[in-house]
Amino acid sequence: MKLAVLPGDGIGPEIVAQAVKVLDVLRRDGMKIEMEEAPIGGVGYDVAGDPLPEATFKLAQESDAVLLGAVGDWKYDTLPRDVRPERGLLRIRKGLGLFANLRPALLYPELASASTLRPEIVSGLDLMIVRELTGDIYFGQPRGITTLESGEREGLNTMRYTESEVRRIGRVAFDIAMKRNKKVCSVDKANVLECTEMWRQVMIEVAKDYPEVELSHMYVDNAAMQLVRAPKQFDVVVTGNIFGDILSDEASMLTGSIGMLPSASLDANNKGMYEPSHGSAPDIAGKDVANPLATILSVAMMFKYSFNDEATYQRIDNAVKKVIAAGKRTADIWTEGCTKVSCSGMGDAVVAAM
Ligand code: NAI
Ligand code: MG
Repeated sequence: MKLAVLPGDGIGPEIVAQAVKVLDVLRRDGMKIEMEEAPIGGVGYDVAGDPLPEATFKLAQESDAVLLGAVGDWKYDTLPRDVRPERGLLRIRKGLGLFANLRPALLYPELASASTLRPEIVSGLDLMIVRELTGDIYFGQPRGITTLESGEREGLNTMRYTESEVRRIGRVAFDIAMKRNKKVCSVDKANVLECTEMWRQVMIEVAKDYPEVELSHMYVDNAAMQLVRAPKQFDVVVTGNIFGDILSDEASMLTGSIGMLPSASLDANNKGMYEPSHGSAPDIAGKDVANPLATILSVAMMFKYSFNDEATYQRIDNAVKKVIAAGKRTADIWTEGCTKVSCSGMGDAVVAAM
C-alpha cells in the first residue's frame, strides 16, 4: 500500500513521526507499506507559495490513503485567505471527494478521571459522529467580505446542501449504525434554517431503507447541551459540516482530551485521509509534549476503513489500551499517580506494546 504522509504545521510533524513509528513496526513485520512525505498547509505555502502544492495533491490522488498531521499557525493569519494553511486542508478534502468524516469519541476507562465531566456521566461512552465534510457553509457560494454602497462592510457565507449530498452522508451514518447499536440521531437547525429543514426531510427518507435503525432528530443547540448532560444517549450522530466541526470538538473533551480523538475522511469508495481531529496546537509545538494518540488511532482507522484489515486495527488499538492501562500519560491527559511521558515517549510506548 502506498501512503501519502503530510505532516503539516505546528505539532503536525511531531505527532505524525509517532504514527510513522507504528507503521514501521507493521513494515518490519512484513507488511508492504510505501510512504512518501509532502508539504501541506503553512509549510506548503513556505516552499511552494501554495497551502496545497500541485505535487502534494497529485501524490495524495495516487496514494491508497493519506496520513495528515495538522495545518495552521498564527504566523499565517495575516495572509490572504486563499493561501492560508486551512484553505489547503479544505481543498484536499474537496479535491479528493472526502465527504464522510467519521469521528469516534470513545472513553478509555482509565481516562474517566481525565474528563472534565463526572466519571458516571462519561464512563462507557462510545459514540460516533458522522460529519459531512465537503458541503455546507464552508463551501457554499457566494461568500466573502464586501463593502456595501453605504460604505459598511458585509460578511457573507452561504449554507447550502443538495439532496444527493445529504442522502449519501445519511447512508454512511445508517450503514455504520447497522454495525453498532442501530440508533442514528440527526442534528440540524430545521426550525430556523431551510437548508437543514431539507436535510431533515432527506434523513427521514433514507431511514426508510433501514427499518431496523431508530432515527431521531435534535436541534444543534440542544445537541450541544445533551452532549455534556447525558452523552451516553447517543450512538451515531449525523450532521452537517459546521455543526459536526463544533460538536466533535465538544465530544472530544468527554474523552479526556482532544488529543485522543482520531478521524477518518472517506470518499464513496472508502479511499480516505486520516488525521487527528485537533489542530496544529501552535501553543505547544516543538516541545515534544503533544499527545500523539489521536494520530496513532487515525492510522488504526486507516486499516479498518480503507484496507479492510480489522486485525491490524485491533493490534494498534490494543497497544494504545495497554499503554493507557499501564498509566502512561502525555500532559493533556495526565492525572495524579500516572507517569508523564513526552510525545515521542508515548510513541515509543505504543511501539513497545505492539
Ligand atoms: P487546536 O486543536 O490546535 O488546539 C486547541 C487546544 O488543544 C490547544 O490548547 C492545544 O494545545 C490543545 N491540543 C490540540 N491538540 C493537542 C494534542 N495532540 N495534545 C495535547 N494538546 C492538544 O485548535 P486551535 O488552537 O483553535 O487552532 C490552532 C491552529 O490549528 C489554527 O491555525 C487552526 O486554524 C488550526 N486547525 C487545524 C485543524 C486541522 O489541521 N485539521 C483543525 C483545527 C484547527
Ligand atoms: Mg475543528
